[in-house]
Amino acid sequence: MAFSFYSLLLLTLFVAFVTLPTEAAVKSYQFDIVVKNVSRLCHAKPIVTVNGRFPGPTIYAREGDRVIINVTNYAQYNMSIHWHGLKQFRNGWIDGPAYITQCPIQTGASYTYDFNVTDQRGTLWWHAHILWLRATVHGAIVIMPKEGVSYPFPQPNGEAELVLGEWWHTDVEAIEKQGNMLGLPPNMSDAHTINGKPGPLFPCSEKHTYALEVESGKTYLLRLVNAALNDELFFAVAGHNLTVVEIDGVYCKPFATNAILVAPGQTTNVLVTADRSPGRYFMAARPFNDAAIPVDNKTATAILQYKGIPNTVLPIFPQLPTSNDTTFASNFHDKLRSLNSPQFPANVPLNVDRHLFYTIGLGVNPCTTCLNGTRLTASLNNITFVMPKIGLLQAHYFNIKGVFRLDFPDKPSTAFNYTGAPLTANLGTSLGTRLSKIAFNSTVELVLQDTNLLAAESHPFHLHGYNFFVVGRGIGNFDPAKDPAKFNLVDPPERNTVGVPAGGWTAIRFKANNPGVWFMHCHLELHTTWGLKMAFVVENGNGPEESILPPPKDLPPC
Ligand code: C2O
Repeated sequence: MAFSFYSLLLLTLFVAFVTLPTEAAVKSYQFDIVVKNVSRLCHAKPIVTVNGRFPGPTIYAREGDRVIINVTNYAQYNMSIHWHGLKQFRNGWIDGPAYITQCPIQTGASYTYDFNVTDQRGTLWWHAHILWLRATVHGAIVIMPKEGVSYPFPQPNGEAELVLGEWWHTDVEAIEKQGNMLGLPPNMSDAHTINGKPGPLFPCSEKHTYALEVESGKTYLLRLVNAALNDELFFAVAGHNLTVVEIDGVYCKPFATNAILVAPGQTTNVLVTADRSPGRYFMAARPFNDAAIPVDNKTATAILQYKGIPNTVLPIFPQLPTSNDTTFASNFHDKLRSLNSPQFPANVPLNVDRHLFYTIGLGVNPCTTCLNGTRLTASLNNITFVMPKIGLLQAHYFNIKGVFRLDFPDKPSTAFNYTGAPLTANLGTSLGTRLSKIAFNSTVELVLQDTNLLAAESHPFHLHGYNFFVVGRGIGNFDPAKDPAKFNLVDPPERNTVGVPAGGWTAIRFKANNPGVWFMHCHLELHTTWGLKMAFVVENGNGPEESILPPPKDLPPC
């Protein structure tokens, strides 16, 4: 009698313990993809938007929440949405890149992205992941720490999202098509924007200026997202220092700087204190470009406005690094360090199971329909990725043959002086849908090596499904004998998108603990279009807990 009474009591206590604290909140959103006329820079034009807004709505959640976003597509373009930086453990079905993890949502159809936010907090973002539609279909994701958990830096008095964008006066899809037909880069953008607005430096855009009101002496957290298609951007606030506290949704060791550099795909959180004489101060964004390739170098501005200051006061302009300031860029990268605190440790893989070395090349392939009979192209290990017609994750999960090959090479077939004298011809790009197979839980080191094929240029690389540690970076050719000794294996920055410097290399490490098919690509949309992309197939581990989840019922058909 006594024994079973105790058992019952223990069982009751145990059940109470496991069920009480686990109820996560559910955050639901409806995204309507609609074409809407917006007016910017004296141009009224229809753009593809979410809910008619540019940028689209911010998604707010807390670590541990379940987020449900129903997307209904009323536009003429097929659509898919990617939740950039969310790891989507075992759940690639809702990752979003079209033809990689899903077929697109067709006009008139809906798809529900249903996912849990696990062990992540900070600023991330969402964007269309098909064609160039992310130019206008994007927005911020703000993940607050769990209830009762504070930031590892002083609590700010206020917060604001600053989404940096790139604007074309004409339809972005027409621009992309023009490029594909010519085989050349299409027209560069006409403006940059901050929260959808170019600022008063552009004609007739006074009313298209974003202003953030601040109170003297208070501190604000600015959550910056670079949603531009093709431009890395410097950002600064006139007269005010910025303290960087987080990159790509991972806390970092705080450091003060007068400007930041943020590449397409990346996010950066900074603290700014309104400690200057009350006035109006420009916040400005302008491209970093150290390649011999022209870019839209127009400056976008917004205003940091102290409370009570009239709009007639002329704002002060910040000092931004010059557009080719490579020294600033590399010093800025060198300052980035993981927080690596007991609460937020940097679990850097110390031993490597799999060494990968990928060269990044631009090149020219024959094209009979193109203007010059050639088409600009891009490749990894001389392979230009060809988009499949059905989702790669489906092909992998359902074992559909003939969609992709699993023979992406771990290193280039021929070694050469990657960053030597300008190489005008490529080494013969081969076309293919070739993926690389990674064993579950193996530790991977990937060295991305820029080359001088056609032009050396910096490339922000993004890996889906993972964060990685940026253990090393250098200019010239990676030296496997000497460079690893200089790796930072203690507190390297952890992120989801990293710049490979022009004519240099970047080494990243990650543990392949998320089974699925995960896209990796340059986040300059121009280069992605040219084929600078590939995908990893991370195998299942043991048992259902380490395997890909079954697909949702409403997964869009191809
Ligand atoms: Cu933000 Cu595959 O992209």
